[in-house]
Amino acid sequence: MRIAMIGAGYVGLVSGACLADFGHDVVCIDRDPAKIAALEAGRMPIYEPGLEALVADNVRQGRLSFGTTLKEAVAEANAVFIAVGTPSRRGDGFADLSFVYDAAREIAGALSGYTVVVTKSTVPVGTGDEVERIVRECAPRADFAVVSNPEFLREGAAIGDFKRPDRIVVGTEDPRAEAVMREVYRPLYLNASPILVTGRRTAELTKYAANAFLAAKITFINEMADLCEAVGADVQAVARGIGLDGRIGTKFLHAGPGYGGSCFPKDTLALAKTAQDHGMPLRIVETVVAVNDQRKRAMARKVIRACGGSVRGKTVALLGLTFKPDTDDMREAPSLAIAAGLQDAGAKVRAYDPEGMEQARPLLPTVAFADDAYSCAAEADAIVIVTEWNAFRGLDLERLRRVMRTPVMVDLRNIYDPNAALRHGFVYQGVGRSSGGVSAPVS
Ligand SMILES: NC(=O)c1ccc[n+]([C@@H]2O[C@H](COP(=O)([O-])OP(=O)(O)OC[C@H]3O[C@@H](n4cnc5c(N)ncnc54)[C@H](O)[C@@H]3O)[C@@H](O)[C@H]2O)c1
Repeated sequence: MRIAMIGAGYVGLVSGACLADFGHDVVCIDRDPAKIAALEAGRMPIYEPGLEALVADNVRQGRLSFGTTLKEAVAEANAVFIAVGTPSRRGDGFADLSFVYDAAREIAGALSGYTVVVTKSTVPVGTGDEVERIVRECAPRADFAVVSNPEFLREGAAIGDFKRPDRIVVGTEDPRAEAVMREVYRPLYLNASPILVTGRRTAELTKYAANAFLAAKITFINEMADLCEAVGADVQAVARGIGLDGRIGTKFLHAGPGYGGSCFPKDTLALAKTAQDHGMPLRIVETVVAVNDQRKRAMARKVIRACGGSVRGKTVALLGLTFKPDTDDMREAPSLAIAAGLQDAGAKVRAYDPEGMEQARPLLPTVAFADDAYSCAAEADAIVIVTEWNAFRGLDLERLRRVMRTPVMVDLRNIYDPNAALRHGFVYQGVGRSSGGVSAPVS
């Protein structure tokens, strides 16, 4: 199979590299020349574990290449994947589909022979119909089908997710297109990954429904954590107590500072807008969006309370900036709202992240950046664990306390045992872990 991947971002690059690894010939196209130049020089434009080796391997074997113009790659392709961004549109929060429609127009001008145009970007219901209309309008004689094939990979575990997905959703009613898609994913079918073939609109909605459900699950346990703090219960035990029920499941029940990232915030918002437009408002999803938005800034207030009610003139050290570990993605990261809330309250904010600082710097221009966790904590009045990078799980608490001015630890990911923190002389505050969440050090 010959595949053209339009958009070489987190999804396009990972999907392209994995499809090449399955044995297909893949060309990844991106309109950003710097990204393509970096890839051609063997440098990854994003941080994703295992990606550099996978890309290098497939480039070496001649199955993966890169370019900025799609004409040749599309003309030769059996399947053209659209994996461009669909960010929130400024103003109303609906998905901005301009990148998808631009790509559709460009693809239309290059089609040759029967081609399946596959929307891998997350797009609202009906986008496939519009992509089809655009391609038909621009290339009336082209032989093509438009298929929805939403992507469910997680940043940080993207290669494993792509190669061993829980399911592959293919939205098409065209048997020829279905056959091409089955060929694209044949290596996974042999691994027994289920392929669900549905209508195109159903496939588009399935992606949003999945993300909205997961966002609701996180938001549910976050609200439960707040109640735990108020009543003196432990959210970790509650999560385990409910999660062991097979109908609920243990995943996505970790209380924290609220979900962020490039998907959940924009996708929940876009789904809520779609539903409103169809006169079928999704109240649960709307509430999830509102609760999560408020939660990020509320985390700054939590830090202020842990610091005795004021952070004016104090230094707060943030450990972790990315929206989750093992990525450099800063989109909608809770750290952004937390840093702003603390600075608004008069704190000096210093931060360290193992992979995200390059992306974070322009977003946090008044934050100071440190080279490691200990220099970040030096002379600080509080440290806040914002992202649960593995590197933060085993910090030398003795050393950490010694370098700090005041030993306050706000652990927004519950990665430390409160008793261990107390034994090392910290004032410890987790999320939903004890009455008020605050524990004083053992004297
Ligand atoms: N990031 C994730 O974890 C994830 C997971 C599942 C689904 N998705 C969805 O996949 C889509 C892509 O997300 P992403 O995170 O990879 O975005 P991204 O911003 O990292 O990458 C998009 C890329 O597309 C390029 N591009 C835009 N228009 C183009 C055009 N006309 N021709 C060529 N290149 C073009 C951009 O330069 C950019 O490099 C989104 O719809 C997103 O919702 C993302």
